[in-house]
Amino acid sequence: MEIIRNPQDMQDQALKWRAAGQRIVLVPTMGFFHQGHLSLMEYGRKVGDCLVVSLFVNPTQFGPQEDLAQYPRDFDRDCELAQQIGVDVLFVPEAESMYPPGYQTYVTVEEVTQGLCGACRPTHFRGVTTVVLKLFNLVQPQIAVFGEKDYQQLITIQRLVVDLNLPLAVVGRPIVREADGLAMSSRNLYLNPTERQTALCLYRAGQAAQKLVAGGEVARERIMAVVQQLLNHSPETIIDYMALVDPSTLAEIDTVRGAARLALAVRIGQTRLIDNFLLEESRS
Ligand code: PAF
Repeated sequence: MEIIRNPQDMQDQALKWRAAGQRIVLVPTMGFFHQGHLSLMEYGRKVGDCLVVSLFVNPTQFGPQEDLAQYPRDFDRDCELAQQIGVDVLFVPEAESMYPPGYQTYVTVEEVTQGLCGACRPTHFRGVTTVVLKLFNLVQPQIAVFGEKDYQQLITIQRLVVDLNLPLAVVGRPIVREADGLAMSSRNLYLNPTERQTALCLYRAGQAAQKLVAGGEVARERIMAVVQQLLNHSPETIIDYMALVDPSTLAEIDTVRGAARLALAVRIGQTRLIDNFLLEESRS
């Protein structure tokens, strides 16, 4: 596995691969790999000739009061895990080379970034779409792989690619969960043992909603009453949002017709956790 730090070297390598007719797959990450990241890489390894994983804790997607400085990092372990999967290039740029002095260009996807996490983190998606577009330009992938855990991010990137006619496919891959249902996230590390138990409210709420909809319940009010009760089970949980949305536009819906996404964000102590669930009406 090669480690490339310089953006220009990354683009030169990508253009060489392209000229040789290779299919490039990109898995963008902020490092501190867990099984969720590894599942994206394993998928990428299967569908591409050249697999690039970017590891960049992108400062422009963190708000001024957020955890940029504390964001967990373990470069040696990440290298080992990426190597085991057969990653060809680990692209690890410095913030100064991605945003050199004088940097002033940002890209914004408008509607789908307004609600959910966009409402609580007003500059977050502008940072995500900007860095992802830069990564696409540097790595030149035909396929980019994102986790469904950050569902609004996935929909936003899909919109970016369609709206700007970018020549690549964006693939969303399923959430990987711990044995007890907690969605894997680098931020789970911040939870103390009690908070870790409390965090299961997200999975419980999601499962209850899935069961209700599969059993024929379609009314937002009744589904969300159950979700709210389960999220509020422990007094340490603060709900940032709980929303029932159309899976492709992220617009709030009152009635489930076919399928919906339940999107959840809670704060437990100092940690903000998100999760989401596909709710499907049963066909029978
Ligand atoms: O999902 C992430 O880890 C980040 O938002 C991404 C896509 C790597 C952009 O910095």
